[in-house]
Amino acid sequence: MSLLVFSVPLLLVVAVMKALSRSPLSALCRQVYSGILKLSHRKVCVSSTHAFVFSNCTHGQAQSVLLTFDLYSTTHASSNIGPQKGTFLDEIVAREAPLRVLELGTHCGYASVRILRLLPPSGKLLTVELDPLTADRGEEIILVAGFKNQQFQVLTCSSAEAISSLRSHTGNDGLDLVLMDHDPELYLQDLLALQRGNLLSSSCVVLINRALTPGARDLLEHVTARPQSFSVGRQLHGLMEIRCHTGMSPKPQN
Ligand SMILES: C[S@@+](CC[C@H](N)C(=O)[O-])C[C@H]1O[C@@H](n2cnc3c(N)ncnc32)[C@H](O)[C@@H]1O
Ligand SMILES: *[C@@H]1O[C@H](CO)[C@@H](O)[C@H](O)[C@H]1NC(C)=O
Repeated sequence: MSLLVFSVPLLLVVAVMKALSRSPLSALCRQVYSGILKLSHRKVCVSSTHAFVFSNCTHGQAQSVLLTFDLYSTTHASSNIGPQKGTFLDEIVAREAPLRVLELGTHCGYASVRILRLLPPSGKLLTVELDPLTADRGEEIILVAGFKNQQFQVLTCSSAEAISSLRSHTGNDGLDLVLMDHDPELYLQDLLALQRGNLLSSSCVVLINRALTPGARDLLEHVTARPQSFSVGRQLHGLMEIRCHTGMSPKPQN
């Protein structure tokens, strides 16, 4: 009898909880909660990466900044592309010698510093970061690495906003290299917006990170279905090189 007295209310509670956990409201709550968790985790990650690099690197030395990032990553989870993919990126920057580079997703500035140290003297990097705190931290690290405001600009906005106002930053110069490392779900629409805006140079290289994640699938399908417009190059741990042949025609030689 006592078993029944306890188990009936218990069963009721379990049933109500089960029903609630299936309701759209509770799904929404869970999403909001995990979103807040992720967001605060990201802020912590950005702040602690920044603090570690800022206080442990030799200011003014890009190589020391990169090594300090790499040292941090040996003991902490880290969102930057890291040394292995970084070396692959280096090879492409050195080979292309791009004058205009766009990076989507600055984070703490690791890939920005890698790119900037290999640019030709008149080369410029535009790097885009959605989160204002992260953008500030990233910009500070790029300055700590010894780069000047004539060499780079951090745009604090979404990739879509940056692309729509890009011409005011690049003038008539097309982009020679684009690194997409922000949100794979946005890669295709951002690539299409860059093409629509005629913002890519005649033989632009687009590097996409996390190319093998499901979010990037529609970009890959788009690219591989159009072999006249794109050639897929090498790929290392999901960092993939795509050459676009659809950019502006080469400038007339005088
Ligand atoms: C993986 S991290 C970039 C790492 C960086 N490229 C590196 O290797 O050092 C991705 C960054 O993209 C930013 N982000 C996400 N969505 C974005 C969007 N739509 N526009 C611009 N930045 C975005 C995030 O805030 C995050 O800082
Ligand atoms: C600098 O590096 C040391 C040794 O790796 C570490 O213990 C310290 O926390 C770092 N500084 C910051 C501010 O993270």
